Amino acid sequence: MRRKLAAGNWKMHGSVSALAELTTLAAQIDPQGCETVICPPATLLFHACQLVTSTDIAIGAQCCHPQPHGPFTGDVSARMIAETGASYVIAGHSERRDRYAETDAEVQAQIRAAWRENLTAILCVGESGEDRQAGITLDTIATQLAGSLPDGANGENVVIAYEPIWAIGTGDVPTLAQIGEVHDFIRAQLVRRFGDTQGKTIRLLYGGSVKPSNAADIFTAENVDGALVGGASLQAADFLPIIQALNDA
Ligand code: 13P
Repeated sequence: MRRKLAAGNWKMHGSVSALAELTTLAAQIDPQGCETVICPPATLLFHACQLVTSTDIAIGAQCCHPQPHGPFTGDVSARMIAETGASYVIAGHSERRDRYAETDAEVQAQIRAAWRENLTAILCVGESGEDRQAGITLDTIATQLAGSLPDGANGENVVIAYEPIWAIGTGDVPTLAQIGEVHDFIRAQLVRRFGDTQGKTIRLLYGGSVKPSNAADIFTAENVDGALVGGASLQAADFLPIIQALNDA
């Protein structure tokens, strides 16, 4: 009942010429398979959306400002993102929570702004290495979910990505049991808050060092509906086998 989702977060990588990867991807993905979303830098959104028209790829942004417009130098609003033709936006990625001190309340405001523009938010949550060592992983996730996920969440307007900070870009991946434990926990929290019907339609992605070599394994973990992929989403040759592994799972 939940359509699987392979999402690529290009972070501050990519260029106009790198958009050719989208064409390669579009030519090879199975329209009957999982949904595919690519989140390039803001400067490439419009061009990327033009390129994927009438393909099975959707485009997303990596963050948004909660206000539609205003004196916020350097920021991009959800309204501006929607105008490019994008349909997704990442919210609360740990790189933004850390580097720009984005709080749960700010992330929640971003998601509300995304919803006003009919964008689907990909809300990121995840513990630090210190949290895991201290045995407070689930407390951290619970706090982030309670603080950053607005009321009214459902399977259409939000996707949740579990991204342990210590697994991002490091090659370290949690065990399947650890991934399963957190995903089961998130599912239970969603069901408790939004009820059985809505809580079970929200898709849960795993993110953090997903590669062609470990994707099939990761997709066997409990309650994993797909992946949010960083480095391995930059090249179609790396992302395609991950998409294939998700389709086969
Ligand atoms: P990597 O796949 O490069 O570890 O990045 C994960 C991530 O942060 C996706 O948002």
